Amino acid sequence: MGFFRDHSMPIRKKFVAGNWKMNTTLAEAKALGAAVAKGVGTDSKVTVAVCPPYPWLSAVGDTIKGSSVVLGAQNVHFEKKGAFTGEVSPAMLLEAGCTYAIIGHSERRHILGERESVINHKVHTALEEGLHVILCMGETLSERERNLQERVFQRQVFAACAGLTDEQFHRIVIAYEPVWAIGTGKVATPEQAQDAHKFVRSKLKQLYGDKIAEATPIIYGGSVTPENTAGLMSQPDVDGALVGGASLKADSFLAIVKAAGVV
Ligand code: PGA
Repeated sequence: MGFFRDHSMPIRKKFVAGNWKMNTTLAEAKALGAAVAKGVGTDSKVTVAVCPPYPWLSAVGDTIKGSSVVLGAQNVHFEKKGAFTGEVSPAMLLEAGCTYAIIGHSERRHILGERESVINHKVHTALEEGLHVILCMGETLSERERNLQERVFQRQVFAACAGLTDEQFHRIVIAYEPVWAIGTGKVATPEQAQDAHKFVRSKLKQLYGDKIAEATPIIYGGSVTPENTAGLMSQPDVDGALVGGASLKADSFLAIVKAAGVV
């Protein structure tokens, strides 16, 4: 089927990002960045991003220079500057070498109480300031058990993406991350991921039309490993992975990148 693709539709490049969360020492972060850069080189089949903790951004940025690996932050503030003790602005992230910022990760939604209005505000400010955004969404276990996931996706897509221009939307990657799969070793089946991604894309079509919806990468996150990557990536609407635990070892992260590039 791939051979007979409709050429009026853009072909989505696979995207794999490593979310290191609150892990690594400075020495470990530098070694990991260097090993990922060495493994990826200048290969551009897959877009690869690493998202270290804030204090290590510049140092890791140095280790990936000359490779095609790009830098991302795990969070960003919703205002451009000012009296926000402890927060980091989009402009600071850009100056530290970031291309991407993760927004709306479930750990921020559920542990830190980030509301949908805040997520929408962050998306707007980050895009206005020139960042690309990895926008996370996904249902909890209890929502899945009550079969509410599609209602949740619809609410999350509409709330997070409200008011964006078409041009801004070109800088968004959506990450579907079922909360019950994050850090649990319980990965979604390829069919569950495909159903979710297809539904989210249908909502993007409703909001932004076919062209933007077809061009937007929708990546999967939640217990991704080298073993389960190929199955997930074989689905037509799964365009890559947001990797937590398995991104902390260069070997497993590079194996995921490789598996994503083969499909
Ligand atoms: P995990 O985390 O791969 O450790 O499940 C994914 C994420 O939270 O982005």
